[in-house]
Amino acid sequence: MEDKKINILLIGNGGREHALAWKIHQSPLLNKLYCIPGSPGIEEFAESVNVDGDDLKGMLDFALKNDIGLTVIGPEIPLVNGVVDLFEQNGLKAFGPSQRAARIEGSKIYMKKLLRKHNIPTAEFVAFNDYKAALLHIESVGAPLVIKTDGLAAGKGAYVCKTLEEAEKAIQETMIDKVHGESGSNIIIEDFMPGEEASLFVFTDGHNIYPLESAQDHKPIFDDDKGPNTGGMGAYSPAPILTENLLNDVLERIIVPTVHAMNSDDSTYKGLLYAGLMMTPKGPKVVEFNCRFGDPEAQPVLMRMKTDIVPVLLSCCNNNLHRQMIEWHPESAVCVVMSSEGYPGSYSKNKTITGLDKNYEKGVVFHSGIRKSGEQYLTNGGRVLGVTGMGANLEEAISNTYDIVDHLSFDGAYYRKDIGSKGLGK
Ligand code: GLY
Repeated sequence: MEDKKINILLIGNGGREHALAWKIHQSPLLNKLYCIPGSPGIEEFAESVNVDGDDLKGMLDFALKNDIGLTVIGPEIPLVNGVVDLFEQNGLKAFGPSQRAARIEGSKIYMKKLLRKHNIPTAEFVAFNDYKAALLHIESVGAPLVIKTDGLAAGKGAYVCKTLEEAEKAIQETMIDKVHGESGSNIIIEDFMPGEEASLFVFTDGHNIYPLESAQDHKPIFDDDKGPNTGGMGAYSPAPILTENLLNDVLERIIVPTVHAMNSDDSTYKGLLYAGLMMTPKGPKVVEFNCRFGDPEAQPVLMRMKTDIVPVLLSCCNNNLHRQMIEWHPESAVCVVMSSEGYPGSYSKNKTITGLDKNYEKGVVFHSGIRKSGEQYLTNGGRVLGVTGMGANLEEAISNTYDIVDHLSFDGAYYRKDIGSKGLGK
């Protein structure tokens, strides 16, 4: 059954989806790849379909008419809005969690209550829907602390506050100014967790769990982890901080109990579960769960995946993940995000990008926010490029990646200069 060639539909248009298209395109099981809405980079591997990225019914109609054997959903919003349920109700296979299961990312309050109920290690928290009560709470507990919107905020809804003034500002922005819309009507206030972060993705069919190689993201905009959080400014894989012992600990005390907890909550989780982890002095603790591949972590992780991804994705839908064996390239991979000046705040678009017409021997330039006008590539988002390179070890991967970055430019291009340095112990 699984050696028949199929048409695949990919949903999304960012760097993560470009990396997924790059990987899926290599599969001998692929007949034709389509993408909704797609991007100029993805079009190298897939036919773009003119359906809006939020139009679930439009996606379903396209899939039904085009003999789609598997739909792979990149971003969280269609998952949280129930795209997998809609496809399955219509007899189609879709890789990703159901709407109930996607609450693990869609509502921080849901996720934190689930972890608390099942004694899964995470920071202590209190939830608020009242501005004054939230202010009283921070005055009583003091800084440092972390404030997060309950709902989705494109990776920008978490505020690490070192002072009470920063915390007051975060509560004002989220609950009163509504900079993240209704996502900030409810917030959680968490204890600050010291330590270094790592990301671990696992494939699961709801019962079997298969960890991917580890990665480390770089969320703050500036070097040395300074400045406001972004969707992620770069990543590398593997992350040496997640040693084999720690990985086993994370699987035993965090991942397996979470997958079981989801089952017992009638929210069986299938697809890719992303655990954002803090390596605290008291052991690994959950920072967040996401219901999809991380962006930019997907770029280096997928570049290192040797095995065909399509049977793995299908097996998560078909409840037979135990039949899969995933092999990895032993080399390191690094992704450096080039962003528009001003991101994660406001930024301008339509700057001409140069250097995209070349093929780079040691890596791939994934397109995060780009559009094409005639033969010209123009910036079209906050995160513009995910430059991803490989090397025999992390040091070489960093050097190869920044060599490619040096060939790319656009007006106001910004990137961190320290991606991967924590992995080198610097
Ligand atoms: N890189 C963080 C995220 O994908 O949410």
